[in-house]
Amino acid sequence: MHYVAFISYIYHFATLFCVSAQFHGSNENNIIHLLPAYTIASRASLLGSATCATELRDFLDAVDQRILWGLKTLDSSGELKSGFLYGNNFWLGSRSQCLDIMNRTPFEFANRYILNNTRYRDSLNEFPPFQLNYFVAYIRHNSTLQYHINIFTEDLITLGLCLPASCSTNNISFILEGIFRDRVLLINDLYSVDLNLIQVKNLKDDHQWLLSGAIPFICVALVLTFVMMISGTIYDIFIYQTYLKENNKTVVNIENAVKEMTMTDLSFSCEKSRIGNVLMCFSVYTSTKIIFNTKLDTEEIVVIHGIKFLSMVWIIIFHSVFYMLEFYDNKTWMLRFAEGIPIQVISNAFVSVDTYFFLSGFLLAYMNLKNKIDKGRSKPIHYKKKLNEFFVSILKRYIRLTPAYIMMIGIAQLISAWYDKTSQFYVEEISHKTCAKYWWRNVLYIHNLFAFNTMCLSWSWYLSNDMQYYIIGLALLILSTVYFYVAVVILSIILIASVILSGYISYIYEYVPTLDEQFRLIDVIYYPPWIRIGPYIIGMITGYIIRRFNKKITLKRNIVILCWTLCAACNILVLFGLYKRQISVLSTAIYVALSRTVWAIGIAWIVICVMCCTEHGGIVKQLLSCKIWIPLSRLTYCAYLLNPFIILSINLHSETSTHFEVLSIGATIIGYLMITYLCAYALSLMAELPYILLMQMFRQSRVKGT
Ligand SMILES: *[C@@H]1O[C@H](CO)[C@@H](O)[C@H](O)[C@H]1NC(C)=O
Ligand SMILES: *[C@@H]1O[C@H](CO)[C@@H](O)[C@H](O)[C@H]1NC(C)=O
Ligand SMILES: *[C@@H]1O[C@H](CO)[C@@H](O)[C@H](O)[C@H]1NC(C)=O
Repeated sequence: MHYVAFISYIYHFATLFCVSAQFHGSNENNIIHLLPAYTIASRASLLGSATCATELRDFLDAVDQRILWGLKTLDSSGELKSGFLYGNNFWLGSRSQCLDIMNRTPFEFANRYILNNTRYRDSLNEFPPFQLNYFVAYIRHNSTLQYHINIFTEDLITLGLCLPASCSTNNISFILEGIFRDRVLLINDLYSVDLNLIQVKNLKDDHQWLLSGAIPFICVALVLTFVMMISGTIYDIFIYQTYLKENNKTVVNIENAVKEMTMTDLSFSCEKSRIGNVLMCFSVYTSTKIIFNTKLDTEEIVVIHGIKFLSMVWIIIFHSVFYMLEFYDNKTWMLRFAEGIPIQVISNAFVSVDTYFFLSGFLLAYMNLKNKIDKGRSKPIHYKKKLNEFFVSILKRYIRLTPAYIMMIGIAQLISAWYDKTSQFYVEEISHKTCAKYWWRNVLYIHNLFAFNTMCLSWSWYLSNDMQYYIIGLALLILSTVYFYVAVVILSIILIASVILSGYISYIYEYVPTLDEQFRLIDVIYYPPWIRIGPYIIGMITGYIIRRFNKKITLKRNIVILCWTLCAACNILVLFGLYKRQISVLSTAIYVALSRTVWAIGIAWIVICVMCCTEHGGIVKQLLSCKIWIPLSRLTYCAYLLNPFIILSINLHSETSTHFEVLSIGATIIGYLMITYLCAYALSLMAELPYILLMQMFRQSRVKGT
């Protein structure tokens, strides 16, 4: 055996030697030609007599003579990394080391250690005679040895290069293209791969991105918001609160705003100056009180808060894995890991989005049917009044959602433009381009009808779907007050059509629920509105049932137990049904057609049971109606807007790729959760609550005026 190993060792060495011998055959140290940075430097002559060429030559000599700064520079550049076959395309080198080579401040070691540390070093050789800069090259490879899952960046190699700052990206591209043409790198030979340069990026921040497009405008808007918040808070604490104390009044509008956030409304009275009122809306102090107020009135549905928060946690866990996918250096291992049974809870977490559709439909029906079920049908019909009611409801919802959404689009553009300039990673979610171009689709809530790669804030498709369903649902509810059965028939037709259509689409695209197929068909099978409406309709029906029976459904104990079992079975089936993903196209079509609706039915039972049968709610009810969920669930919308953005931002800022491991990813996810909720609180103070309060104030002043 040793003999064989020895032969193969010799063979490998000979191969490496031959490869490197193709270029600069005369050099003694051929093997280091396999290091990209060295190869680049060795071709400096292609650039003629430019500064870059001279400095590259100096660098080359320094390495050949093993001078410290040369070695440091070479060491800071990337090269072929182990784990390539399982997806390690990140040859990032070390950016911080590269930039620190020029830093002449000595390290703060104890003196005796410094002596020992520098014993073998010539301090004159520590520093390069010119400035260095860190570049990245994005290179596409055509290796078939890696596994493919249809994500865009999977065959993109990121090569970090520590080179003289005088070299332009054009110069480096020029040399690299030659190197790839000649196929001289180790990877070319070892895996018979062809490389294709996409872009060389200079990561030195020149702040030019601050001037591009709408960025200056976004910055101004952010600064204005902060100014409003600061002055609002100051006004609130120093003027309004003292005024309240002097007059012994309680803060009226807190409770009203709380109600507004949970979709009921009442008018309120206030008696201060107009500007003061506007400022008050931006007050951090009052807004915080609103968010953390845990008093609910009897009409409110306590369990909804629990479901909302827990589903959002689930979504964030899923997003953490999903949006980090492009940063994993062992994607294939992650796929293996995702095959486990417990992990199905995360792999199939998209059903938690259906929980939201369900809740949304449920609240719509529940809130709108408040008084209408018993009275009203015999009264004469006021078409104008109904139409008015329809548009006012939509407008209210629009104003509640849109400011935070626009703010998020702005922030995403800003940060994305910055990362596009400074991040080592290839920025795939190019918000600064897609949002600049297509933000109007988001604001009109129609962007779910377009292709995935043109989507600004790819995760926000939910909002468009939800808004569209809201309009349909509201129209049907208003119709139902006049022609009840017509509305019921239309609703049933939509539900059945959606089920059949989903199954049909899945069938004709020959969709099989493996991960790669999910990526391939994301804009066909995942978010189009006709695929997702099922749970919304189930939610509306549930809302109707609860109103109809006025929260008092008496069921026998046996039946309750039977229902719990059935519904738990529904949910478990949906969640774990795809444990083996290699199923036939037909079974997949059936799963796609029914899974979301079946899931929603399972959730519907939980809601009905917990709300109506007072004795049988049990532990689920207690869990879901904890008071802690209330403030957290108020932050749901902002947490939803922010979480993928935060995950992407943290990863794009990183200096290394992420290695998928259970415990460390688990810890990371907990971090994301905390950060998301902290930022959601800030976003809510900046762009959600102020506009809700303003809207309230405006409506109330109109009521007063008439
Ligand atoms: C530094 O080097 C000297 C001589 O080799 C040795 O005696 C001493 O223990 C070293 N000090 C430390 C802290 O390593
Ligand atoms: C990559 O492309 C080159 C040229 O098109 C080809 O010769 C080589 O075999 C390809 N490598 C693989 C692994 O497909
Ligand atoms: C190298 O970069 C400089 C500065 O951008 C440019 O003027 C020169 O033409 C480039 N040389 C080559 C060979 O690309």
